[in-house]
Amino acid sequence: MQDILPEGGVVRKLWIGEAAKYRDHMLRLDPQSRHSRFGGGVSDDFVRDYVDLSLSVDAVVHGFFLGGAMRGAAELRPLGSGFPRQAEAAISVEKPWQSHGVGSALLRRTLLAARNRGYRLLHMACLAENRRMQQLARKFDAELSFDFGSVVGEVESSRATPLSLMREIMADHHGFATAMLDLQSRMLRA
Ligand SMILES: CC(C)(COP(=O)(O)OP(=O)(O)OC[C@H]1O[C@@H](n2cnc3c(N)ncnc32)[C@H](O)[C@@H]1OP(=O)(O)O)[C@@H](O)C(=O)NCCC(=O)NCCS
Repeated sequence: MQDILPEGGVVRKLWIGEAAKYRDHMLRLDPQSRHSRFGGGVSDDFVRDYVDLSLSVDAVVHGFFLGGAMRGAAELRPLGSGFPRQAEAAISVEKPWQSHGVGSALLRRTLLAARNRGYRLLHMACLAENRRMQQLARKFDAELSFDFGSVVGEVESSRATPLSLMREIMADHHGFATAMLDLQSRMLRA
């Protein structure tokens, strides 16, 4: 399915060396979005440490990029050896780009990555009042169950197939080509 994104924007994986883009995106989240993303109020230092940790573990981060800046992110992290084939996902979109299909595109790409890595269950933790995230998860047939004031959406992911692997490879190629063109045009302008 074709993603409908704000003009000029692209969803692609974050590359090695782009940690600062991820950190800057997280630090730019308005207070309410930051609260929703982390399930409570957290400091700038917490956000910096969180990003460092995420990039040091086996996380797959997709970003929504516009004009060289990252304006949205989706993180996929394995839960560890105690929970084989399970991962957690978390999404954030900066306020001016919310409600424009960015979260849907990021979640769709994250589900494809989860499927191709053999994760069968994807946990999405969010606050009970976070209706928008729940709506978004429902679009992908998430089953929601309540747990002490927070909602845990669990999405059963389909098995990897040659076609699903090919879709991820093609998306990565497209993301690489777009990023190269973006870099080239910014170097020509400088
Ligand atoms: C939750 C969040 C990721 C959604 O991203 P988004 O880019 O706004 O989502 P989309 O535009 O793809 O919309 C997804 C669905 O949410 C719902 N939605 C969108 N805007 C909405 C609004 N203003 N009010 C209520 N529901 C809304 C719709 O059901 C929409 O699907 P549709 O467009 O097919 O009808 C984003 O709002 C965000 O970053 N919030 C702060 C951080 C957060 O809460 N993260 C989740 C915890 S991990």
